[in-house]
Amino acid sequence: MYKGLIERYKDYLKDIYFQNIITLNEGNTPFIRSSNLKDITGNCNLYFKYEGANPTGSFKDRGMTAAITKAVNDGSKSVICASTGNTSASAAAYAARAGLRCIVLIPEGKVAMGKLAQALVYGADIIQVKGNFDEALNLVKEAAERFPVTIVNSINPYRLEGQKTGAFEICDDLGKAPDYQFMPVGNAGNITAYWKGYKEYWENKVIDSLPKMMGVQAAGAAPIVEGRVIKNPETIATAIRIGNPASWDKANAALKESQGAIDKVTDDEILEAYRLLSSKEGIFAEPASCASLAGLIKYAKNHDLSGKTVVCILTGNGLKDPDTAMDVEMDLKYISPNIDDLMNVLS
Ligand code: F0G
Repeated sequence: MYKGLIERYKDYLKDIYFQNIITLNEGNTPFIRSSNLKDITGNCNLYFKYEGANPTGSFKDRGMTAAITKAVNDGSKSVICASTGNTSASAAAYAARAGLRCIVLIPEGKVAMGKLAQALVYGADIIQVKGNFDEALNLVKEAAERFPVTIVNSINPYRLEGQKTGAFEICDDLGKAPDYQFMPVGNAGNITAYWKGYKEYWENKVIDSLPKMMGVQAAGAAPIVEGRVIKNPETIATAIRIGNPASWDKANAALKESQGAIDKVTDDEILEAYRLLSSKEGIFAEPASCASLAGLIKYAKNHDLSGKTVVCILTGNGLKDPDTAMDVEMDLKYISPNIDDLMNVLS
């Protein structure tokens, strides 16, 4: 039986391979070949890494199994995080499983409904902050100086250790590293983690090349692209509504070392990718996740990708944000329960 990613990749996770592993059998997510987007993605060989299939519906579970396992084995009794939604859902689930108190700070009114529902049912202490994610994260750091609590945001290094396994799985499935990896960038932990994973496989000669890391930010929340802190970030992709990423320097290092690039996409481009992914590929990913595909579509307009192996990371499940789906696709038909009405609307 599959026992989760710490067990699977224990040789690369020696610092967190304890007796008592807190796991929901996360990881081992679908790696899906794209079949219907060739013409707009530069004729590349495109794959999606569908992280929405993780137990709480996002890639955060990879980092959380590691961070919570470490916290428990260090004797911690409570954990805290700031979150745009997915981290809080994941932290709450793993903390519940481990019997820890979980405190989550979220930007008021800016967290998708499914994510909030998750944190609620998993039993976290939810505190809404009248401010944005960056302000909530500052509060978390200050709180951790005042009382004994473990931060489980991606500034916790064990989060990145867990998340680097996404890169391992991609290489294991492909039998090599991709040429390009497109991914959304918010607080910039995940791009840092993936790059670490690829480099470790390369150093251990599991792969003999490295991908270009291609970061994608939302146009209204693109501090790394613009090289400045964004005071009031705004985007429909609330998961990446971040103006001052904690791992900014590490993300820049990953971009530089991999000879990759970072770009921004508009909310319209994100929503277009969101529709294409669901209606052409049958994959439902939340808006922030679709920034990766939007970034690839934009890049392919000016770059030749034919024959290249490209991976888009789809970081979170579309079900987390039903409001966006209903806003975008609201075209419901209503009939009385009789066959003539049905034939009429179908014709
Ligand atoms: N995609 C989704 C669905 C996310 O939830 C996040 C981050 C990202 C991409 C960006 O990853 O921060 O490592 O660059 N969500 C965090 C949260 C901030 O609180 O759930 P990153």
